[in-house]
Parts: sequence; structure tokens; C-alpha cells
Amino acid sequence: MSLVTVEHWPLPQRVDYRPQLEGGNILFFPATPFPLSDQSKEFLRNLSFAGGAIHKNIAYRTSLDRITGIDGDVSLKSQLRDIFRDYSRSVVRFTAELLPQYARDWTLDYASFRPLEEKGRGLPTNKRNDLIHTDAFPSRPTNGALILRVFTNISPAKTRIWITSDPFRAVAGRFARDAGLDHIATVGSSTAGQILNQSVRLLNTLGLPVVPRSPYDRFMLRFHDYLKHNADFQANCTKHRFEFPPGSTWLVFTDVVPHSVQAGQHALEQTFIVARRSLANPHDSPLSILEQICAKPLLPGRSQPAATATTAQQ
Ligand code: SIN
Ligand code: FE
Repeated sequence: MSLVTVEHWPLPQRVDYRPQLEGGNILFFPATPFPLSDQSKEFLRNLSFAGGAIHKNIAYRTSLDRITGIDGDVSLKSQLRDIFRDYSRSVVRFTAELLPQYARDWTLDYASFRPLEEKGRGLPTNKRNDLIHTDAFPSRPTNGALILRVFTNISPAKTRIWITSDPFRAVAGRFARDAGLDHIATVGSSTAGQILNQSVRLLNTLGLPVVPRSPYDRFMLRFHDYLKHNADFQANCTKHRFEFPPGSTWLVFTDVVPHSVQAGQHALEQTFIVARRSLANPHDSPLSILEQICAKPLLPGRSQPAATATTAQQ
């Protein structure tokens, strides 16, 4: 996997970057290709975390135009909402121009600001972002769609340092079974799995916020935790180190690319959920890769996948 650098924006001619991204590469813009005012960046960097009113991760729910991660102070909240709204609009406009095929069919997810120095944060294992992992959102199952994230380093001085590993096909081929894929796939398609789904629906009708999760989403959540807890993987996996300097922007499918952040402060990020049908190569997506490995469908209503010759032997 590698960094695909785009030096100039707008592009002199159209380039379809989908295969590069889906194949596990990072699309890197040394100069952020959309407007972001110095005033907004400064405002974000100067937020004070004393008193605990502002949390370590401020999120903007793009579709609801709502900020989470900050308590009280109505005027601060509304200033932040204005900044996020502008940021989100410009990053969405840029990404739609860069990847029009995705834009036709994507869902805007949250935008977020990461204000803390990442080095030495001392979080519990499951929350540590300095351990290599693939992303999965507990509250927002994707049902096989992909998680595309656009990051911008708005620190005036600090480089953001990532370590990544080989893309999903390689890590899943090696670890998906050990992480419990076959069990999740079997329960998912069994009567027990259907009863479980019915129970979740019932609890939802009763007003209890239980997230209905496909076998695919259950596995992706499990895999996130599995990789973080696997000391052998963390120590011995292939590693690629990337430095994202101040003022740069990068795009990556964070469920395809195992990644970690080692150091850096002050990053903005917007997430897009990209539909499988708009991918250049839907058969290389994590859903297809996992179904090839376990030879079972991982979404309700999908037909039995054909096991490939190599995975069937494993
Ligand atoms: C992550 O998604 O693991 C965090 C990456 C970052 O904040 O740079
Ligand atoms: Fe992550």
C-alpha cells in the first residue's frame, strides 16, 4: 500500500481515484484542497479543555446540524456549529468533485475535531488509536458500505504520524477466522440469529435504543477489538509509516486500511459512508472478502456466496 500524492487541485483532467482508495492506498494532498479559514483553525486550536465542558472529541452531526461533545455554553456551541457547518460544506463539495461516483450514493456521517496530542494518551485498549485497527462504528452499522474519511491536519507545527498495515484482504485472510468469523456467520443465518433480529426490532418498537446489527457489522466491530488486543499482530505485522504535515489533507477507507495514529494534534475529519454499488470494485470490498472466506452471506437477504478456491481450502 502507498501514498498517492495529488500535488495540484483542481486536476488538469479527470482521474478516477476509486481503485486506488478501494485497494487500500491513501490519497494525499500536501496542500488542503478546500477553503478553511485561519480564523476557524485558530478558534478550534484555542478551545480550552479546563473544567471538562468540552470533551476530547467534538463531533458534528452533519445531517442534523448539531454539535456533540460540549456541555453548556450556548454561544460557544453556536460558534462551533457555524465553523463545523462551513468546514463540512467545503470538504463535502471538494470530495464530491474528486469522487463523483461515490457522491451520487453516499451518506454523510459525522465530522469531528481531534484536539488532543495523540502521543501517550493512556486510553483503555479498545479506545486506543495508537494500536493498529480497522474502523467500525458501534452506533452506526454500515451493512457492507465503506467508511471513507477525509482528515486535515490543522496544527500549525505538528506533523500527524500514522502507522498502517496491509489492506483488509491480507489481514482478514490471516485473522478473520481466529477473530470468530465462522461463528458470527453461522449464528447470523440460523434461526437463533433471526430470533435475535426480531428481538432487537421488538425492543426498538418498545422505544429501547438497541442497534440492529447485521452479521457483517457484528464481525467488523469484533475485528476492531480483536486487532487491538492481538499483541502478536501489533508487534509483527507489516508496517508503513506516514507523515502528514501541517496543512495537509488525506483520504482513506479506514475499514479497508488498518491504521493507527502515533503522534500529532489538532485534526479535522469528515466521514462518508460509501455504498457498495458505487465502488469501482465491489467484489474486493470487506463484505465480499469476508463472504468468500466463510462462504456464507453476511447481510440478511443476500444469496449464498461462492467460496473461492483458495479460501475454501483454508
Ligand atoms: C483513527 O481513526 O484511528 C484516528 C486517526 C486520527 O485521528 O488520525
Ligand atoms: Fe480508526
